[in-house]
Amino acid sequence: MSSCQPGLCDPAGGPAWASDAEKAEAEGYPVIARLFRATGDAEAKHAEDEWAVLQSMGATARPVAETPTVGTTAQNLQAAFEGETYEYTVMYPGFLATAQAEGMTDAARIFNLAMRAENVHADNYADVLANLGDAAYLNAAYAVVYRCPVCGEVVTGRPGRCPICGASGESFVMYYTPIRKVTLNASALTTLAKKAALRLIPTVIPGDGAVTGPITYSSSNDKIAKVSADGLLTAGTTAGTAVITCAVTSIYGTVLKATITVNVK
Ligand SMILES: [Fe+2]
Ligand SMILES: [Fe+2]
Repeated sequence: MSSCQPGLCDPAGGPAWASDAEKAEAEGYPVIARLFRATGDAEAKHAEDEWAVLQSMGATARPVAETPTVGTTAQNLQAAFEGETYEYTVMYPGFLATAQAEGMTDAARIFNLAMRAENVHADNYADVLANLGDAAYLNAAYAVVYRCPVCGEVVTGRPGRCPICGASGESFVMYYTPIRKVTLNASALTTLAKKAALRLIPTVIPGDGAVTGPITYSSSNDKIAKVSADGLLTAGTTAGTAVITCAVTSIYGTVLKATITVNVK
């Protein structure tokens, strides 16, 4: 058995980040919660990779992660920063040296990627800590974060390729909340006289700093009521009902809709 075994590797995945994310949500920091979740998913991937290495070496008992201590979000960020810094400056360099010395190329590759990803994690937490009082900055900078599915790097812009492991940018996992809700300035059941018109105005409640893309309108029956590209709803000369849909597309491609039913009399 190599010296890379439970207690030396990190296949338990470190602290449970979910509780830090929940705390951040409760304290009104949804973008920090997002960063904790993305980073936590990266740690989970590291743990899977390292557990696979251990199993290939004959391990059967998986190490268990310690129960985390949850403080304030500022304290959790500080602890996370210190933990990541320890991992990329001490822990993984040690693992890597041992794996290289023992000719364990798979383990060495995994440790090297994880070490570099932990460095990025630490930098992210340091940035968030330094700007904890600047909600406008945090909401803009961390509106969307991306996680490399291979090495666990977490970044705020989708790269062409992962600078750490070379994975394609398209494969990065997005974490974001683009649009929370869309409503219209008309009742769910709106009655219009024939030929009457109504200007529809959507209210879009965006997610954390993410802006919206195109807004489109459609009618289920143009003869009953039609709606122009800019939201002018006009009843026809035929009585009946039509469903009017306002669709808002986020810049990330997801679509949220508001509908009303128009009853033309
Ligand atoms: Fe990390
Ligand atoms: Fe990567």
